[in-house]
Amino acid sequence: MRVLSGIKPTGNLHLGNYLGAVKQWVAMQDAIQAQGGETLYFIADLHGLTEWIAPAELSANTIEMTATIVAAGIDPDRSILFNQTRVPQHSELAWLLNNVARVGWLNRMTQFKDKAGKNREGASVGLYDYPVLMAADVLLYNTTHVPVGEDQKQHLELARDIAAKFNLDYDIDLFTPPEPMVSAEAPRIMSLRDASTKMSKSNPSEQARVNLVDDDDTIAAKFRKAKTDAEPLPDTVAALTDRPEAKNLVTIYAALADLTPDAVITQYAGQGFGTFKPALADLAVAKLGPIRDRMLRLLDDRAEVGKLLDQGAEKARALAAPTLLKAQRAMGLHV
Ligand code: TYM
Repeated sequence: MRVLSGIKPTGNLHLGNYLGAVKQWVAMQDAIQAQGGETLYFIADLHGLTEWIAPAELSANTIEMTATIVAAGIDPDRSILFNQTRVPQHSELAWLLNNVARVGWLNRMTQFKDKAGKNREGASVGLYDYPVLMAADVLLYNTTHVPVGEDQKQHLELARDIAAKFNLDYDIDLFTPPEPMVSAEAPRIMSLRDASTKMSKSNPSEQARVNLVDDDDTIAAKFRKAKTDAEPLPDTVAALTDRPEAKNLVTIYAALADLTPDAVITQYAGQGFGTFKPALADLAVAKLGPIRDRMLRLLDDRAEVGKLLDQGAEKARALAAPTLLKAQRAMGLHV
């Protein structure tokens, strides 16, 4: 098994990315390696370019996100941790795959439609081509499993289609179709202000998300002020269906405590948010505080964090280069 996943450095790590992705990456580092498999994780800085971001911000975020991922438990000696830019094979394979992917396939991608909105003509070509680079990320390493949130599933289906068409067109068994892994323990975390939108780096209100850099008081205050309703918690998870804000807080509690939502409901049934919110705030501070403190210590030496990316990239290039070469040869490119 070879597991790979990535994250865009378009902001700081927040609770949604952490519970929806990075926490799973850490769990998988242990589980997959126990079975003799490999885990690769990367900062998708090239994907970060697809929507405008100030250069200084992109480069600072890349280092900060690396430090947060290490602080959260990814061990650079056990997992291969790098950024896309340091492994040029990602861009090179993406160009080759651009000639395999069809315009009709990309036109169906909902993320592009959502992000481009009404301004399709003004969207970057990079935003449109985003899923092809993502396919290259995955196919370059013959990845078997890709842990991602629900929102990335369609992109991985496309990667499977690209792999199959490449193998067919060039009559070669080169690319492995990857399996998306959307785990039940990797919930979709919604905004604390409006549970109909996901918690994201682009929420306009800072109150909508908990960042992994937030200090203890800020974390607690954000949960205390989170939008809820006036009812006490019910005694079944099913009864939360029409209460998205309450459901989101229960989901967050369960993910942080490594419990099922059922277990949380059993514990708090009949209690109001006056009790539940402070308990959630305490739990979040207890779980996130140590990660933040480790991250801040790592960031005392940013050059050292950059070196970790160098070392990871060297290992990644060694795995990526032979695959790229095979793809180039299969297509008739002389290298
Ligand atoms: P990105 O940076 O948007 O998000 C990183 C991961 O976090 C998940 N996620 C969430 N999960 C739960 N609740 C939320 N509110 C939430 N917000 C984000 C995302 O599903 C994702 O798993 N395209 C990818 C980066 C990427 C990639 C790849 C991933 C580039 N190449 C190859 C896997 C394999 C992305 O935009 O992630």
